Amino acid sequence: MARSLLLSLTLAFLFTEMVSARDWNILNQLKGLNPTTTTTKTSQNSVASLKGPNLNGYCESWRVNVELHNIRDFTVVPQECVWFIQKYMTSSQYEDDLARAVDEATLYIGKTCCEKKKCDGMDAWIFDVDDTLLSTIPYHKKHGSFGGEQLNTTQFEEWQSWGKAPALPNMVKLFHEIRERGFKIFLVSSRKEYLRSATVENLIEAGYHGWSNLLLRGEEEEKKSVTQYKADVRAWLTSLGYRVWGVMGAQWNSFAGCPVPKRTFKLPNSIYYVA
Ligand SMILES: *[C@@H]1O[C@H](CO)[C@@H](O)[C@H](O)[C@H]1NC(C)=O
Repeated sequence: MARSLLLSLTLAFLFTEMVSARDWNILNQLKGLNPTTTTTKTSQNSVASLKGPNLNGYCESWRVNVELHNIRDFTVVPQECVWFIQKYMTSSQYEDDLARAVDEATLYIGKTCCEKKKCDGMDAWIFDVDDTLLSTIPYHKKHGSFGGEQLNTTQFEEWQSWGKAPALPNMVKLFHEIRERGFKIFLVSSRKEYLRSATVENLIEAGYHGWSNLLLRGEEEEKKSVTQYKADVRAWLTSLGYRVWGVMGAQWNSFAGCPVPKRTFKLPNSIYYVA
């Protein structure tokens, strides 16, 4: 504990040093920026102004590299970036990023062969549940860790069992567009089987209906990694003759393994990593 505090202080000191040095760089001079204006710009969040633009840059690159899947298997968000991840995940930028992914998915489904009436009922689409259809942000807001501490599964599942998770912005619309186009929608979640009725009620409450199957992890599936479980579901759907056109999820475990989906849509989420 004392050691990690010392480390944080050392890091904070290092970053402060770097900030003052970097603020003199040529780009800032060209833009007529000086350290004071830079600080004022980020001061919407008082924490940000304390930490300075360099920590901002470091944390943004950590976040982007999580999304790019260069950084894997992290158990917690680096302590010095928890504030940044929280800021991003509750920002309009996060919503813009989601909106862009939804736009791309909409464009893509417009180009697929599946059209209303012409479909043979074997075109499929897969959605994750958490942080794809339903947001866990209220949980992180309530318990305040935003990835800074390892997820307390008991507490998290208790929250899930209340069934109060809101829909992610734009996602209800996308869901119904895909469904109305004639795709069969499969929801593949790492949630446990005992949360089924809470999950169904929550999804309906949030505006989703008409999916073909909701797959959750029973005892057998809990023995596998989430990646393997999700790949096995895709293999099963393929074996039934379904063409999986797209998978949308907030974890890389939704896309890994065989069979490879035709298209994947990764939504931002740098709060936790599940393999
Ligand atoms: C996890 O949450 C439960 C329920 O709120 C609590 O009883 C337990 O002590 C927590 N565990 C840890 C490791 O914090």
